[in-house]
Order: sequence, then structure tokens, then C-alpha cells
Amino acid sequence: LMPLLYAIVLGYLCGSVPFGLLLTRAAGLGDIRDIGSGNIGATNVLRTGNRWVAAATLVLDAAKAALPILVARYYWGENAAMIAAIGALLGHCFPVWLNFKGGKGVSVMIGSLLALSWPVGLIFCAVWLVIAFAQKMSSLAALTAAATAPIFAFVVVNEWLAGAIAIMAIVLFFQHRENIARLMAGTEPRIGSEKKAS
Ligand code: G3P
Repeated sequence: LMPLLYAIVLGYLCGSVPFGLLLTRAAGLGDIRDIGSGNIGATNVLRTGNRWVAAATLVLDAAKAALPILVARYYWGENAAMIAAIGALLGHCFPVWLNFKGGKGVSVMIGSLLALSWPVGLIFCAVWLVIAFAQKMSSLAALTAAATAPIFAFVVVNEWLAGAIAIMAIVLFFQHRENIARLMAGTEPRIGSEKKAS
């Protein structure tokens, strides 16, 4: 049981590094929590107008999940790798350093899925891209990709990975509760629009 405990703590600590906040501040773009939706993720960093900082946020938020997963797999095996992924998502969404008010978990989910099963990760990205291009809404793209990912994991890998990803999808949906309300009200802003989201 100890390896699983190490895995979730390692995942949480890596996941809790808020790259969107740190990079935006380092680039002199202000506090990301005062911009747009107030979220610390790449989609909201894009609202600063700096797409390089947004891209770096996406990559580093994905990497901070992939790293503990690969470490956990190497030392403690596949179950620990899945637990590390859940830990990283919890760290990102509920970081102790930011009074547990973190991000929404999309970049973290991309990094986790690529590390756990790259085909499932690529399918997640493909679904995200298709919906994002069709509907121009980052949240809708992420929700669709997250909802379908457990099904793809079940088909491509096994029920254990599907279960772990389903848990992650539930957390992702919970973090998107304000986006879901806006989507239903028809007021969710489109990607690239400068409109304030909250
Ligand atoms: O991927 C995060 C996205 O789904 C929502 O972000 O800032 O539009 O609430 P935001």
C-alpha cells in the first residue's frame, strides 16, 4: 500500500505547481486570476493575448502530470502510475498553495493520458481538436473529450484504466461547473474572444 501512497503524494506535489499563474506573472502579464475566467489554465492564459505563454502553460501543465506517472510506473508499477495521475489532477485542481483553488484539469488530463496510454491520449486530443474547431469553445471540447475518454480506454486498454480515467473525468466536470452553466445558458465565450467570461 505504501507505493500507492507515495504515488499519490508525488503526483499531488507535481500537479500543484501552478504554471499558468507562475508563467503569466513571470512574463509581466499580471495575475491570471484577475483575467478572463480567472482560471489558471492555458485557455485563460491565451486571453492575455500571449499565445507563447499559453502554449508553455499547456505543455508544462501536461508535463507535470506525465513526470510523476513515469516515475511511479518505473518504481512501483502500473497501478501506482494511475494513482499518480489522479494525484496530479487533484494537485492541479485543488493546490494547497492557492487555498485549494486551482485549475480545471484539461492540460493535466492530456499529459496523464499520453503517459498512461498514448493512443488514448491522442484520441483525447483528437476529440478536443474536432470539437474546438467545430464549436470554438475550449470547455465544450474538454468536456466531450473527457466524457468519451473512459470509453476509448476501455476499448483500447482495459477496465482499470477506464475506471481511473472516469474518476479523472468526474473531477474535470466538477471543475467545469461554471462553464457547464454558461454552456447551458448559451453564454460561454468562444476561443479567441476577448469577452470576459465571469
Ligand atoms: O480548458 C479549460 C477550459 O476548459 C475552460 O477554461 O478559462 O474558459 O474557463 P476557461
